[in-house]
Amino acid sequence: MDRVLVALPMFNDVLDRLREHFEVLTTPDGPPDALPPLAQRLHGCAGMLVAGAPRVDATLLAACPGLRAVCSMAVGFNNIDVEACTSHGVLVSNAPGVLTETTADFGFALMMAAARRICESEHYLRAGRWSDWRYDLFAGADVHGSTLGVLGMGRIGQAIARRGALGFGMRVIYHNRSRLEPAVEQALGARWVTKEELLRHCDHLVIVVPYSAQSHHLVGAAELALMKPTATLTNVARGGVVDDAALAEALRERRIAAAGLDVFEGEPAVHPALLTVPNVVLTPHIASASLPTRRAMANLAADNLIAALGRGAHAGRPPTALNPQVLAPP
Ligand code: DGY
Repeated sequence: MDRVLVALPMFNDVLDRLREHFEVLTTPDGPPDALPPLAQRLHGCAGMLVAGAPRVDATLLAACPGLRAVCSMAVGFNNIDVEACTSHGVLVSNAPGVLTETTADFGFALMMAAARRICESEHYLRAGRWSDWRYDLFAGADVHGSTLGVLGMGRIGQAIARRGALGFGMRVIYHNRSRLEPAVEQALGARWVTKEELLRHCDHLVIVVPYSAQSHHLVGAAELALMKPTATLTNVARGGVVDDAALAEALRERRIAAAGLDVFEGEPAVHPALLTVPNVVLTPHIASASLPTRRAMANLAADNLIAALGRGAHAGRPPTALNPQVLAPP
């Protein structure tokens, strides 16, 4: 029986599904640095179920010659060197689709929390500082009727655009390397603009681009300088797409009004400057974290792992493989 490593704490029912096919090594709750090195834990394993961490690269693959499948329950897969996996004959899959609406809900919630200063005002209340009603107490920016700027217009970007246009009467502008079909733009009520126009004209910028070498610091000091001083920025994409140090400075100097961040460069560490500015809402990478969605993500990764290792009804046909060519018959 093949052995697989589930490299993160996992739903029991998903572990039970995997146990029907494999010997399953599990991961206890606790700090990842208390665990033995990953290569050691993977010894003798044919497959691994992961999420947005750990890093899977050529060094790990060389140390684990028996590995044949790495299946992630995240949609973003910048932690996995797919090219290196392909050249080692290792199947890689991610989990697109199942988390779109949940992540869009959260992106919208973060944007609203930043615009309406929800966390800042809650801290003030909890600190016992609320003494009277004032006309300008935590007065923020309107969301309804404003201009939503979406940077990256994949599934999640489109789901955020729909919420803005249909639910909140927002004008939606977006920037993406490739433009949507005119019919899709029309259905979303979204207009393609250059990145510069997007930054200059939006009231609320929501960033939903995958991380890659090309998107590293896509929004840094120069881009922040183009934004309105009343604007907000929300990042539910990946750490590293925004230059967190530059953002913290722009927030401190009120060059933009507020931000909502669910992802950070070098997370789980957070740039210390971000922790000292009040006008930012910080959450620990939980945009896809509703229980039904996390279970759907885990089940999709399990489906991929079972199929990639030649088991189950879809043996040899993992549903969301990123490099299916490694399984192609010779
Ligand atoms: C994803 O699926 O990429 C989410 O960010 C969780 O890692």
